Amino acid sequence: MKLWGGRFETGPSEVFERFSGSLHFDKRLLDADCRGSQAFARALQQVGIVTAEECATLVAAFEQIRLDATQPGFFEGAADEDVHTLVIRKLKDRVGALADKIHTGRSRNEQVSLDIRLWLREEIDSIVHQLALVMSSLVAMARNYPDALVPGYTHLRRAQAVLWPHYLLAYFEMFARDRERFLEARARVNVMPLGSGALAGSGFPFDRDAIAHDLGFASVTRNSMDVSADRDFALDFLYAASVTMLHLSRLAEDWILYSSDEFGWLELGDGVTSGSSLMPQKKNPDSLELIRGKSGRVFGDLSSLFVTLKGLPMTYNRDMQEDKEPLFDAAAQVTASLEMMEAVIRSTRLNPSRPAAAAEESWVVATDLAEALARAGVPFHQAHQLVGRLVLESVKQGKKPSNWTASALTAFAPEFTPGMSRLLNPAEGMKTRELPGGTGPAAVSDALDEAEARLRGWQP
Ligand code: ARG
Repeated sequence: MKLWGGRFETGPSEVFERFSGSLHFDKRLLDADCRGSQAFARALQQVGIVTAEECATLVAAFEQIRLDATQPGFFEGAADEDVHTLVIRKLKDRVGALADKIHTGRSRNEQVSLDIRLWLREEIDSIVHQLALVMSSLVAMARNYPDALVPGYTHLRRAQAVLWPHYLLAYFEMFARDRERFLEARARVNVMPLGSGALAGSGFPFDRDAIAHDLGFASVTRNSMDVSADRDFALDFLYAASVTMLHLSRLAEDWILYSSDEFGWLELGDGVTSGSSLMPQKKNPDSLELIRGKSGRVFGDLSSLFVTLKGLPMTYNRDMQEDKEPLFDAAAQVTASLEMMEAVIRSTRLNPSRPAAAAEESWVVATDLAEALARAGVPFHQAHQLVGRLVLESVKQGKKPSNWTASALTAFAPEFTPGMSRLLNPAEGMKTRELPGGTGPAAVSDALDEAEARLRGWQP
């Protein structure tokens, strides 16, 4: 069956049908397509195209198609151009000639926009929920190691000591912003396009607000040409998905390093790692590597749609059919990666002695000492120079901070006071960073409480 054909003397060639058909991927929109068509049947009744009885017949038939589609074999042998065509063919099988009325005053151009919006809204809701699960797994791990101290890095060189919970909460914040980005995208997705027609607005006076209400949309689109031409709501989703994958990828990279023999901080669960076919000793972080790998793929989905849309003349062009596969792929990869990351976080154990030793044997306390001198009145630049000389001297003598006594320190430079020697212990310096957002133990404890309160507030 075709939704067009009267104007043609011969049908489409086999090669063109094969080339242009989208059913093999847009069949994923079937449920949304049926729900949208149920609302549209009610709109057709409202403008007098179908009777109340016909409307009820149509709505029931779409309901049955939704159900049938969950059965195996439903799509077998279907040669329809796209999902919209398939649904109307199935409708015709069920209700006969009445099916010929369903497309009155409607175009697939607005229908496909509606279907994508309905589908995306649900994807976003489930991703937002998954993000909260990942965030709560970070908080749970933080609660398991409230005092664990690790060297924080810049340039992948030991920089300053931080609490492990502080590090975990950094990712919590990134995922919290990802959640906001998805919700912002959802607001732009959640606008009802039906009534736009192919591009000029429908020739039937539909109550568009009623359709929006029927389908749970917050409002209606304001311009029919914009509806046919636009996919920026899909780009918003792909951008939110890309940034989320970026954050997942960086967390994955950290933990690939931190679980290596060289670091030895983390033990990933057996259930999320794999072995080598040749090397018996291997326990590889494949789950994290795949998350890192899939992030590139999702960025590709974003740039794919960007490039597809660039330069398209107003309004709808068939190029836009290429919007769906990147969207489906990105949604699937983000969903799978969030699920995987939550399982990794829940299975991972920290071995606190390794990072504590790494902090202790390095000069992560240097800034603490320089700041103590500055608090005692030494201009910071001079304090910086002085501690720099202390580090240089220590490196030459093979001394670590704990090898310095109070008297050796004051003998090294009179600006040091005996009390400053306690800052040779990284745990002490952290206590000077109690301002909001800092790694001071009380500040981190407050931040953890606040993170948990946010999570509770998001529960439905
Ligand atoms: N399969 C098409 C798409 O995804 C549906 C819209 C078809 N519209 C058209 N004028 N051919 O874009």
